[in-house]
Amino acid sequence: MQLVETPQALRSVKAQRSDRPTWGLVPTMGAIHAGHLSLISAAKAQCDAVMVSLFVNPKQFSAGEDLHRYPRDFEADRATLEAAGVDLLFAPSVQTIYPEHFATQVTVKGLSDILEGAHRPDFFTGVATVVTKLLLIAQADKAFFGEKDYQQLLVIRRLAQDLNIPSEIIGCPTLRQAGGLAYSSRNQYLSPAALAQAPRLAATLQAALPRWQDGEAAGAVEAVEAWAEQQLSTAGFRVDYVAIRDAETLAAPLTQSAVRILAAAWLEDTRLIDNWALDEPVPDEPVPA
Ligand code: PAF
Repeated sequence: MQLVETPQALRSVKAQRSDRPTWGLVPTMGAIHAGHLSLISAAKAQCDAVMVSLFVNPKQFSAGEDLHRYPRDFEADRATLEAAGVDLLFAPSVQTIYPEHFATQVTVKGLSDILEGAHRPDFFTGVATVVTKLLLIAQADKAFFGEKDYQQLLVIRRLAQDLNIPSEIIGCPTLRQAGGLAYSSRNQYLSPAALAQAPRLAATLQAALPRWQDGEAAGAVEAVEAWAEQQLSTAGFRVDYVAIRDAETLAAPLTQSAVRILAAAWLEDTRLIDNWALDEPVPDEPVPA
């Protein structure tokens, strides 16, 4: 695995590797976990060579959020990525990505203002700006993002389409630990007690499936959202939102199909997000509630 820190070095490595015609990009903020490794596996399956970017993007954290305690262990990440067969690691400095006089922002209007955006005002402009830069620097054929950050995936799809960025944006299924908790770098913040409680988030969203599928269309949205919010509050979460939305637009759903339930909730000082497709078959072995 080659390590590069500048866009120029990245381009020169790519140019030397003309034996590898197609490249996949997996953007990360480090703290590499099994969820990232599943994106890398998807990239390896679909592309000749894989590059991972590792950059903790300060612009996607608002004041008072967890930028300063975000888990960082570069050497451990580097060893994990090398063992996973990554070809190229792009690990730029903050100065490289945001040099003095940097003045450009990318904002995906509408989609960025709701749900996560309503609770984290700087998040999506920060994500859209850095992902635009990473896509332009990497010039990869495909870029891979997890469905765990479902709204982020839609924002990135929109910006790539709107800005004619030629990389294909691939959404990959959420990888879950035993018990159903979605892998996330922020799971490291959870105390043992919170870690034991955290799978209730996924369990509650999954338990909404039969309620949604059995429900009457009229009133089902509010009823299932209120039920899920109540379940989470009773289980000790502080709920930011539970929302049932159209899976493409995140607007209020007009039909029973292509619908997603999304939630954000706190345990202690850790904010967890998750989502579930509501129009999938109800699984035989639900995540235990
Ligand atoms: O999902 C993440 O890890 C980040 O938001 C991303 C896409 C790497 C941009 O910083």
